[in-house]
Amino acid sequence: MNLFVDSANLEEIAKVNELGVICGVTTNPSLIAKEGKDFKETLAKIAELVNGPISAEPTGLTATEMIEEGRELAKIHENIIIKLPITQEGLIACKQLSSEGIKINVTLIFSANQALLATRAGASYVSPFVGRLDDINQDGIALVEDICDIFTIHQIETQVIAASIRNPLHITRCALAGAHIATVPYKIFMEMFNHPLTDKGIENFKKDWDSVYKK
Ligand code: G3P
Repeated sequence: MNLFVDSANLEEIAKVNELGVICGVTTNPSLIAKEGKDFKETLAKIAELVNGPISAEPTGLTATEMIEEGRELAKIHENIIIKLPITQEGLIACKQLSSEGIKINVTLIFSANQALLATRAGASYVSPFVGRLDDINQDGIALVEDICDIFTIHQIETQVIAASIRNPLHITRCALAGAHIATVPYKIFMEMFNHPLTDKGIENFKKDWDSVYKK
């Protein structure tokens, strides 16, 4: 399973990119607004930093608006993927933009049927939201499992991006469920590194070495 960073913060993106662990970026209107900077400039800077798919989400709600905005955003860089919501308007835009060769990530997926619909409209990626389902007492990981099973049974090539990742266990479980990608917030990346036995091991190796070789 590949890892993307779910962020529009250039410092965070640069840091995880430097660690060599990501091969793509996802943004959404909330993440862009949190930074308060120009949308297109931010996308161009992200594209300079990371050589991989970068999801950018139009804010219009009609198919016409999404198509127009999607075309504009796609011009920023060849790695820009247009992220569209799983609505009827979103799928009309998905069908049109994908027929023009623009790759689409259909987002806000909360059921297997929504994922299936997105694939039929030409989506290259679907993004099930794991954490937001858990928030309402439904099993987010079970949704990822169902979508991955359906795609395997029917040899569907659309990739599954597990999104709304809230903790490191989500990542392990999405990998076991067969997600192609998990898009992970910066804070959770940092938590993935942690294990008390790693810290203790480093401390002990240094102590043992120093006790013999350090003058
Ligand atoms: O990019 C979409 C996403 O990952 C949302 O996460 O934590 O706002 O549910 P969250």
